[in-house]
Amino acid sequence: MAETLSAPQAERKKIIFSGIQPTGVFTLGNYIGAIRNWGKLQEDYRCVYCVVDLHAITVRQDPAALRRHTLEAYALLMACGIDPEKSILFIQSHNPHHAECAWVLNCCTQFGELSRMTQFKDKAARYADNINAGLFTYPVLMAADILLYQADLVPVGVDQKQHLELARDVAGRFNNAFGKTFVLPDGYIPKADEGARIMSLQDPTRKMSKSDPNPKGFVAILDEPDVIMKKFRSAVTDSEARVAYAPGKDGINNLMSIYSVFTGKSFPVIEEEFAGKGYGDFKTAVGEAVAETLRPIQERYKELMGDKAYLEECYRRGAQQAMAISGRTLEKVYKRTGFIPSGR
Ligand code: TRP
Repeated sequence: MAETLSAPQAERKKIIFSGIQPTGVFTLGNYIGAIRNWGKLQEDYRCVYCVVDLHAITVRQDPAALRRHTLEAYALLMACGIDPEKSILFIQSHNPHHAECAWVLNCCTQFGELSRMTQFKDKAARYADNINAGLFTYPVLMAADILLYQADLVPVGVDQKQHLELARDVAGRFNNAFGKTFVLPDGYIPKADEGARIMSLQDPTRKMSKSDPNPKGFVAILDEPDVIMKKFRSAVTDSEARVAYAPGKDGINNLMSIYSVFTGKSFPVIEEEFAGKGYGDFKTAVGEAVAETLRPIQERYKELMGDKAYLEECYRRGAQQAMAISGRTLEKVYKRTGFIPSGR
């Protein structure tokens, strides 16, 4: 790792950083929109992936549940193909540099710009009884996550674009004030077929979400095959009964996107495959394609969760590797800020 990062610019692989919150089950939307792509990026980039438990507590968490969800998230990322031999995979709270760097960056971030963050406004409305300071400075911690690793690219969904822009602004401001310290990160925009936005199976005008009160609206990566089949069979469609992509046919369009991602087939090929057939056949085929793809992931997940010692070995090593990189950045940050070196 160290060699790769200090190698001359020309042969240096670009660095990718991304994080995911351990706040419960991961859905097909998370899989298609993020996790699946994280695995693919490992070949061409130096990837650093993080389970962001510090971010999770900006909303009240039950301690036992947070602990469980964090380990589950870690194991699930591995089961989905993130290989701790190829990437750095760690748990955010295991690396103290994130919280330390966030403090310095807090002092370079304006109240006004944090007040404009739409996610803060949404969450403050949703959790009106717990509008804590961490919720407000959440984007600064996210900036620290990214900037500590000198990440060139950050795969994020549209809902995180504003936070990424803030990270760039804060990095630029620090660089201007104290000398070039941080790389300014760019968003990594997946290719069209990789970015498919997955909608609820019950209300295909809304994004698929694990917090959907109707569990039939989302498919979790760990749903059993028969549950997956049932959810797809009861997916909301329309009365036209023709498998064809068309504006306004949100339900069918969504199922076609999912089928396309899981089989690699294009829309015209899918339309041909189901010409003259009803929605019933199509829904069954989508369910089977999804269940089949998820089966080995679920098996691997169970294996990993049955071997806690191995998981622990992986996340401990991940934290060490992460700290080796973030430590160098933090040292520069502290020095430039004017802190006396502690010699630690
Ligand atoms: N805020 C991100 C989300 O909720 C998670 C996250 C935390 C993240 N730190 C990050 C994403 C750094 C990318 C880079 O999805």
